[in-house]
Amino acid sequence: MQERVAELRASLQAAETEGALEAIRIRYFGRHGEVPRLLASLGTLPPERRREAGRAINNFKALAEKAIEERRAELAPARPKGPAFDATLPGRPVPEGSIHPISRMCRRIVEIFRRLGFALADGPEVENEFYNFDALNTPPDHPARNEQDTFFLKDSTLLPAAPFRGGGRLLLRSQTSPVQIRAMEKQRPPIRIIAPGRCYRRDEIDATHSIAFFQVEGLVVEESASLRELKGTLELVFRELLGQETRFRFRPHYFPFTEPSFEIDGFRPSPAKTGKEWLELCGCGMVHPKVLSGAGIDPDRYSGFAFGFGIERLLMIVEEVPDLRLFTENDVRFLRNQSCPV
Ligand code: DAH
Repeated sequence: MQERVAELRASLQAAETEGALEAIRIRYFGRHGEVPRLLASLGTLPPERRREAGRAINNFKALAEKAIEERRAELAPARPKGPAFDATLPGRPVPEGSIHPISRMCRRIVEIFRRLGFALADGPEVENEFYNFDALNTPPDHPARNEQDTFFLKDSTLLPAAPFRGGGRLLLRSQTSPVQIRAMEKQRPPIRIIAPGRCYRRDEIDATHSIAFFQVEGLVVEESASLRELKGTLELVFRELLGQETRFRFRPHYFPFTEPSFEIDGFRPSPAKTGKEWLELCGCGMVHPKVLSGAGIDPDRYSGFAFGFGIERLLMIVEEVPDLRLFTENDVRFLRNQSCPV
């Protein structure tokens, strides 16, 4: 064994490269190497010599492994001292969250209205019948007040944070229009507000219907609010959102809280996924005198206009989103692909 160790040491000293070293390792430890051969030879020895020979072979094996590793360490290129850190390596990407498409669209809408002098307002999602219906001149027999259409709350311990006037059952607001009433209670004209927020309706869920969705409400009350101003304001906003080439149609409609009332349709010369050229965008009208006087504003002195539209609907048009459910499923592949530039 002595000579074997000396021989190994000598060849290790002579090895100058990793390759030469590897050849030595294979010579000793490879499948047909020295060590397996020695171990196999144990079986040919008389039993009384096996124990001693086995020990000698194991000693050699341990020595050889150690000697090879020591030589490997000597041959390894010298590492620079200091921390093993390379500042020139590119960083590992950290997955980033992103703003939800609805929030982004919302910010974009608010930003456009801000330039026109609108302030941000809001109201509670848990309302009562007075704010959601009566104060908006909606008669008790109006279909929207039906239990089939609106979520009424059974448990009135779920009391909302906002102060409540009027009465009636508590409900999840079916529109953002009650914010108009709250704004008029808080503030005297001139009023110029925009109020994005969530609304709830009892609907069968499908690609275009949801039980919870976002609307943007707008209200202007001043001495000279006019249909002309309403038209100019909304056309400007929707042109920014849908493209300057968009054309508009003001279609007479009915809302209890405005008179006259309209629905605005937008015409897109190249309808993509929707396949329709005229798309319904927004409800609007001149605030009904009863709504003004109910909120303590003199309808002979002031006039107002109001409007409301759905944010998801707008996103479906602008970004060609085919299914409303994508907004709430939170599939990152969808969220990542949204390109609303804000
Ligand atoms: N609240 C209406 C709805 O949910 C939308 C609306 C129409 C709002 C006309 C308005 C308005 O302020 O003037 O369908």
